[in-house]
Amino acid sequence: MNRGKLITFEGGDGSGKTTQLSLTVDALKAQGKDVLQTFEPGDSPLGKELRHLLLSGEYIPAAQTELLLFLADRAQHVQTVIRPALDAGKWVVCDRYTDSTLAYQLAGRKLEDNQQLRDMLKWAECGVSPDMTIWLDLSVQDAALRMASRQTGGEVANRLDNEKTAFHQSVYQAFDNIQRENTERVKRINAKQGIQAVQIDIQALLQNL
Ligand code: TYD
Repeated sequence: MNRGKLITFEGGDGSGKTTQLSLTVDALKAQGKDVLQTFEPGDSPLGKELRHLLLSGEYIPAAQTELLLFLADRAQHVQTVIRPALDAGKWVVCDRYTDSTLAYQLAGRKLEDNQQLRDMLKWAECGVSPDMTIWLDLSVQDAALRMASRQTGGEVANRLDNEKTAFHQSVYQAFDNIQRENTERVKRINAKQGIQAVQIDIQALLQNL
């Protein structure tokens, strides 16, 4: 059996990532593909506990601890969910992956971006890298406007959503750099467009896989 493909979605809070991810999964299924939709952190039994430790706000982990917990979640997710699905020939569509760790922990938390940490991020992937990454590019200002309207709609922000603007600016800058450094793998989509237009762009990119 052919190995499946791993497609990851990245983007700041408010970029429409969740909506676009679901639409993409529906479109792939409509093409007859066997698809697994998943997310980080937290889409494994152990990961669920790690997600609570990371995002509930009950704990304030040190930057190093935060990084290690995200990597622990990833390794568990790859070994128990993502790799088995790929080996079974499925297309795996994952909400966030290693690029989020680079952006939020290394850039956002200002951990030193050295080779040792890069190697550790790679190691936690257990040999599974994305075939394509869709980055929904939305400026921090536009994202903040969308988030403000959402919170009045009752959605609860997690511990990282509540970071200051400067943090989100560093995260944005990091995604921008990641895209420029990995143009083959990481595709930038203008997330300011309407839902339909964004989805059309994504569909066009997926043809290349
Ligand atoms: P989540 O509630 O799953 O939603 P969204 O992806 O739409 O923001 O939030 C996950 C949070 O975890 C998000 O604030 C980004 C953060 N995160 C990291 O800081 N590092 C990581 O490696 C990952 C996977 C996520």
